[in-house]
Amino acid sequence: MKKIFIFIVCTVLTMSAVRAQVKISGGPYLQDVTDTSFTVIWTTNMDAVGWIEVAPDDGTHFYNTERKAYYDKRGLGRKPIGKMHKVTVSGLEPGTSYRYRAMNKGVLSQEHRTRIVYTEGYGQDILTHNPPVVTTLKKDWSSVKFAVVNDVHENDSTFRELFKDARGKYDFVCFNGDMTSEVRAEEDIMKYYMKSASELFADQTPVYMVRGNHEYRGNDAIRYLDYMQTPTGKTYYTFSYGDFFFIVLDSGEDKPDSDIRNLGIMITEDYVKEEAEWLEKVTESEAFRNAASRIVFCHMPPGENGWHGNAMVSRYFVPVLNRAGIDLMLCAHIHRYRYDAPGTLGNDFPVLCNDNLTRLDAEVTPDKISINIYDASGKAVKSQTFQVGK
Ligand SMILES: [Fe+2]
Repeated sequence: MKKIFIFIVCTVLTMSAVRAQVKISGGPYLQDVTDTSFTVIWTTNMDAVGWIEVAPDDGTHFYNTERKAYYDKRGLGRKPIGKMHKVTVSGLEPGTSYRYRAMNKGVLSQEHRTRIVYTEGYGQDILTHNPPVVTTLKKDWSSVKFAVVNDVHENDSTFRELFKDARGKYDFVCFNGDMTSEVRAEEDIMKYYMKSASELFADQTPVYMVRGNHEYRGNDAIRYLDYMQTPTGKTYYTFSYGDFFFIVLDSGEDKPDSDIRNLGIMITEDYVKEEAEWLEKVTESEAFRNAASRIVFCHMPPGENGWHGNAMVSRYFVPVLNRAGIDLMLCAHIHRYRYDAPGTLGNDFPVLCNDNLTRLDAEVTPDKISINIYDASGKAVKSQTFQVGK
């Protein structure tokens, strides 16, 4: 009887193994690329162990020799089994290109201490013969090019139009909030924009994500940070390209936390207050003070007399930034272009809101920030230049 039972179990597992095939369902995309490291995020269609294989970009075949494998360290000493994979590759040389590929072994069953039953392995060895190339940040930058979109609200077709020629064009891309209307399920972020971003550019170009008020909403919004890798482990952080300094702020929800629409679960004002204390320390740091230019990304623009979210930006962030020498704040949220010159919103720095249907391209040099805004047809709709340090 026991033998028959074991035979049935083995047969069922074998049949499952034939049917179940692990696939990459979204990504990979790059996060937090530094001069010595980068992080790759991707998802699989079934539970899997994931890893990244890295090879120098030296013209050798990927199969020339055994390539170093890097695993997801969130398992704290165990390789995590799941559908969401996040691997940091470290110990690299600055300003150097590396090829990488995301690999997976699907997991059919875990039997505690007895065994783990895997499917056939699957990864970017099958997807492409040309693995993505990532370049670590060099130490010195004479200019930085980046693109910004915001308030896409799951409009994937417009997003794809805006970025159809983006491959290799930018040093980084910034998603300035409200890329989804809510995060209903864990897969939404991948489904609504990161899958497309990966296909179009984000497997080779770092993406910086700014949290919008809509990214506070929905059952799985609490998992938003799983899809990012930030140096602070929070949704607010800084990054630098040489002497060009960037601050990413989280401007919270747009209504007071106690509002009926916030369902009794928001404590964003406390989060923003804590963030303002961190921001004060950032503006006192040597890297910030010695920067050639300082650009802030913040989903909601300031507005003392506006909605509560705008008022929070005015109350908590603007006083700190006013003393700090900010060259430009790039905002979103209002679904239209708007320029607020210094002194018009209690700000001593320029504030520019990008429309929800346009892509803002920026080039930063030590003396100026050049902005060009394009619609989905590729037509230039605005052009603006900001002198740095003025
Ligand atoms: Fe918004």
